[in-house]
Amino acid sequence: MARRALLPLVVAVALALLAAAASAEPWLYEKFTTDGGVRVDYDVTGQQVASLVLDQNSGAGFNSKQKYMYGEFSIQMKLIPGNSAGTVTSFYLSSGDGPGHDEIDMEFMGNSSGAPVVLNTNVWANGDGKKEHQFHLWFDPAADYHTYTIIWNDKNIIFKVDDLFVRSFKRYPDLPYPGSQPMSVHATLWDGSYWATEQGKVPIDWSNAPFVVSYRGYTADACTPNGEGRPLSCPAGTDRWMKRQLDDAESGTVSWAKQNFMHYNYCEDGWRFPQGFPAECSRN
Ligand SMILES: *[C@@H]1O[C@H](CO)[C@@H](O)[C@H](O)[C@H]1NC(C)=O
Repeated sequence: MARRALLPLVVAVALALLAAAASAEPWLYEKFTTDGGVRVDYDVTGQQVASLVLDQNSGAGFNSKQKYMYGEFSIQMKLIPGNSAGTVTSFYLSSGDGPGHDEIDMEFMGNSSGAPVVLNTNVWANGDGKKEHQFHLWFDPAADYHTYTIIWNDKNIIFKVDDLFVRSFKRYPDLPYPGSQPMSVHATLWDGSYWATEQGKVPIDWSNAPFVVSYRGYTADACTPNGEGRPLSCPAGTDRWMKRQLDDAESGTVSWAKQNFMHYNYCEDGWRFPQGFPAECSRN
């Protein structure tokens, strides 16, 4: 009897595992190369989870094999629980390390237990990256997964946290904008003790190491370049993000985030720009 009852159970478990595997493709090694301590796992829903591990010897990261030119990039992240002061966790796009590089950043600056984690959003255009908008998160980013999204098209760059837009960085024809250099996608976890938390006053407490950040549900709906002067290869239905700009309600959430959670705005930092604010600060 016992054996006969067991068989359907085994079949049911096998089918459930198959269904889970089919619902979520593995993505880490298919799409990225890795650096440092990276662990791969599957969560209870069958999704592949990539965890970055930071200890005293090394940080960690993953870097897309493909370069992209415009797209919508999204990932779910569960940040470091407890005292994460001094750590920096990121999800970003970058054209490389050269002096005239472009970059679009979402970086999370850790904090002491109970103190708010800061989300730093930034845009680098042709090597100039003094364009930060920083927010205190309105939830505990370590308690659960949240979705972080970057939309990059030729009109604007939009940053989204779960379903809420927190920033749009517009293109002006006469001002630098990341619009000519393909970028790859990166995620990193590193020791930013010298600047991350309260301007570097709170360094990493290594007695809490190793620090672990988990990523899952990565998607890139994006165009890829075919070489200088040739048209991009784009997936079907590109307009859903290629033409994306914020409507009034979505601009409302940007204002909401600005009013209630903004921690730093480069356009208000007169000390940093004694010769006057960057031109885009007085547009819109
Ligand atoms: C850390 O917490 C302090 C105190 O609440 C806060 O002022 C600061 O903005 C937080 N974040 C960082 C990255 O320093």
